[in-house]
Amino acid sequence: LEALGLESILEKLTIEGGRALRGKVTVSGAKNAAVAIIPAALLVDGVCTVENVPNIKDVNILTEIMTKLGAKIAWVTRNELRIDSRNIKSSSATFDIVKSLRASYYLLGALIGRFNSAQVAFPGGCDFGHRPIDQHIKGFKALGANVEDHMGVVTLKAECLQGSKIFLDVVSVGATINLMLASVMADGVTIIENPAKEPHIVDVANFLNAMGANVKGAGTDEIKITGVARLVGGTSYSIIPDQIEAGTFMIAAAASKGDVVVHNLIPKHMESLTAKLLEMNVLIESGDDWIRVTSGEELTPSNVKTMPYPGFPTDLQPLISVLLCLANGSSTLTEAVWDSRFQYVDELKKMGANIRVDGRTSYIQGVETLMGASLKSLDLRAGAALIIAAIAAKGSSSIYNVNYVDRGYEDIEGKLVNLGALISRQNISIDEYSANAI
Ligand code: EPZ
Repeated sequence: LEALGLESILEKLTIEGGRALRGKVTVSGAKNAAVAIIPAALLVDGVCTVENVPNIKDVNILTEIMTKLGAKIAWVTRNELRIDSRNIKSSSATFDIVKSLRASYYLLGALIGRFNSAQVAFPGGCDFGHRPIDQHIKGFKALGANVEDHMGVVTLKAECLQGSKIFLDVVSVGATINLMLASVMADGVTIIENPAKEPHIVDVANFLNAMGANVKGAGTDEIKITGVARLVGGTSYSIIPDQIEAGTFMIAAAASKGDVVVHNLIPKHMESLTAKLLEMNVLIESGDDWIRVTSGEELTPSNVKTMPYPGFPTDLQPLISVLLCLANGSSTLTEAVWDSRFQYVDELKKMGANIRVDGRTSYIQGVETLMGASLKSLDLRAGAALIIAAIAAKGSSSIYNVNYVDRGYEDIEGKLVNLGALISRQNISIDEYSANAI
């Protein structure tokens, strides 16, 4: 269980709601950049030092997988990783733990990019509908790899990868990053058209360039990768702040009617959220690397639709839903990135939320207050949404399946306690788990 990052399965969070969050909180490094940059370090025959790494379960699962491949990985400090990829023994990652991490798919790009060969068990991770990787596969094939997909294991092989022009049919974060990893040492020029533009795409490109790659245009409509014969060597790199963690604290501040300064964020990355919060009557002030969120008189309703960056992030969709539940009037929330991401709605209904889901849209009628309840998180961001709902609610809540939250948030309850939340973690028996969490 520990290897799978699931030891917190027999734990719950207890939250006494109704306390406004106040004070300062510091955002950690970006999870979705870290889970790409760490495997990207496999591309170099050298040693990388990566700073501002979030110390979370998903990162620990990834380092365990890479250690099994022969990388030597050590935490130098709580948030700094040293990755030595000089003695990689294998390009085959088919052991069980690989399947527990969605981001394992980055091993495909990194291993084919370095060794012209990769074998990776098909990834799992948070379940919100069908999660295909056809765009990754289409890109690997365009680069000249032979692809086999057998019994949940994807095998890539190439004599030599050739640069190519790849048009992504859907905007995909994973495919964009995977094709950057695969093509840095391909022969010739690779162009990725219709790429994702999320901040972590740019972060991964910067990391690759720091190792000697030639990647241009990350964050724009076209990424051009000119293959280099080899990467010059390991590098030192610091990961950007986590846009979604920052958004989590901003929404928590507004939902609890609090006053919070969120530090170590990039305000530009938060624009789609700050625009929505302003529209909902939340007060915002910002500086170079901080945003202060203060609740206004009353939350006004709004219509939100998730979109690839710079649109409103799908990973904040369950969280903004909580705020819309507390607004005075009717709102709509449309999920346009994933087929299905409303599994948390039944939990919010237990707290008195008035939400109806129809296809990809939820219709929300605001209520005066949410009430504490026994809740189970069904995925990472759903869990974070329930924590915010419980903090804003009247009364006490228990949140089961905290393991999902631990996968992506570093010390979330420590940070919330510092802001005045009444939140604690308890061990539970298997009977309590069976009765409440499944
Ligand atoms: C990344 O997932 C993130 N995960 C997700 O965050 C995030 O929700 C998502 O990007 C969108 O922003 C990581 O970075 C590890 P996609 P990813 O490929 O890369 C379809 C979190 O909470 N698609 O951008 O897997 C797909 O079905 C996690 O931190 C294809 O059709 O997402 C989806 O509808 C959850 N074919 C859309 O594209 C493909 O080959 C976007 O997916 C790939 C994707």
